[in-house]
Amino acid sequence: MLRETVQRFAQDVVAPKVRDMDENEMMDPEVIKGLFDQGLMGIETSVDFGGSESSFTSAVIAIEELAKVDPSVSVMCDVHNTLVNTVIRKYGTKEQQEKYLPRLAQTTLGSFCLSEPASGSDAFALQTRAKKEGSNWILNGSKMWITNSYEADIFLIFATVDPSKGYKGITCFLATKDMGIQIAKKEQKLGIRASSTCTLNFDDMKIPEENVIGEVGKGYKIAIEILNEGRIGIAAQMLGLAQGAFDKAVPYTYQRTQFGQPVGTFQGMQFQIAQAAIEIETARLLTYNAARRKDEGRDFTKEAAMAKYTASVVAQKVSGAAIEWAGGVGFTRETGIEKFWRDSKIGAIYEGTSNIQLQTIAKLIQKQYS
Ligand code: CAA
Ligand code: FAD
Repeated sequence: MLRETVQRFAQDVVAPKVRDMDENEMMDPEVIKGLFDQGLMGIETSVDFGGSESSFTSAVIAIEELAKVDPSVSVMCDVHNTLVNTVIRKYGTKEQQEKYLPRLAQTTLGSFCLSEPASGSDAFALQTRAKKEGSNWILNGSKMWITNSYEADIFLIFATVDPSKGYKGITCFLATKDMGIQIAKKEQKLGIRASSTCTLNFDDMKIPEENVIGEVGKGYKIAIEILNEGRIGIAAQMLGLAQGAFDKAVPYTYQRTQFGQPVGTFQGMQFQIAQAAIEIETARLLTYNAARRKDEGRDFTKEAAMAKYTASVVAQKVSGAAIEWAGGVGFTRETGIEKFWRDSKIGAIYEGTSNIQLQTIAKLIQKQYS
């Protein structure tokens, strides 16, 4: 039922706006409102807090279905649910949950702010500094590449309270925009252009002490444990993207004739299409398996990294092939196939690059076998 609801919303509300949003590099406010109205911004949040109280797998399905139509809208929903809501659901106090989860489920977009200009893969080397002054924390520093930040009002910010403690000084803070978050730069990107990605500056920004999420010094654990889940969301985004490109290009190959027959019936094309279908199914099974393990309370870190790594490769490969299957038409902006290929590149970069996924898998194998 959820899959069908998201498909209808994606077709009726998102699809007509995709090309304009990409060209204008801006998310349409009606799309954001629609995500809230459809109950897609508090998928796992309990009904008491205005959410849909559904499973993690449900979130994965919503992210996948949105990505079939627009990977930018998909990542907006993904970051908001799998990163922002989850941090507050898992680590927030009762007061924090009561105050912020209903807003996040119904009206207000969230951002997850970990990366900085000098710390991307080496995320725990972050330099944003938090100093205690009376009953407030004072934040100074900047964050880079922050998804949703142009439209968001609630920000989870990772900062260190004591650089001498290394990653054990990292603490998670919840800030709202009116506390003094400055948007310093909005990036112009190759793909997912409707999704905002900004640099944020904090200049003596006051955050009340009750807005610390979890324990002081335990922010690194919050960040990486949530990212383990988030990586399944990105795998779902890449899976949906690959399927979206496939669904657009394959019908065309049975309509377009050359040498007196549909181009899709040449064996050279048939085998490429069959190979792509196998790869999409492989990505789907890895993604759903990681989500199922997470829902069952089993270890899923390795499976999440495998799913994200594989789905990113598949998305890039299938969307690239889809352009070729449609020939010259696929290379134009008109069909939207080329957009899937531009959007696919980000899968191997954010929420841990492909090398970081391989490193995560390798570390777990070493731990198991040595
Ligand atoms: N799961 C749980 N814990 C982990 C972990 C994992 N995958 N990886 C590391 N840890 C823990 C370790 O157990 C250790 O904790 P303890 O000391 O308490 O045991 C601690 O983290 C440090 O471990 P390492 O020394 O191995 O860590 P490191 O400093 O070499 O790197 C890392 C750790 C920063 C997490 C790195 O592996 C990583 O994942 N980098 C990528 C960062 C990232 O994903 N950023 C995404 C930003 S958000 C985003 O991108 C959103 C979006 O685009 C849409
Ligand atoms: P670097 O870490 O500098 O990596 C450069 C290259 O070196 C990569 O190929 C990498 O794989 C390789 N490399 C680095 N370390 C190793 C190693 N140990 N072994 C092998 N190879 C290595 N961050 C947030 O906090 N919140 C967000 O919402 C967010 N959204 C984003 C949206 C977009 C569109 C983009 C582009 C980024 C976003 N990010 C966000 C940041 C993203 O998580 C980082 O870009 C990513 O973690 C990589 O960091 P980096 O760009 O600094 O690359």
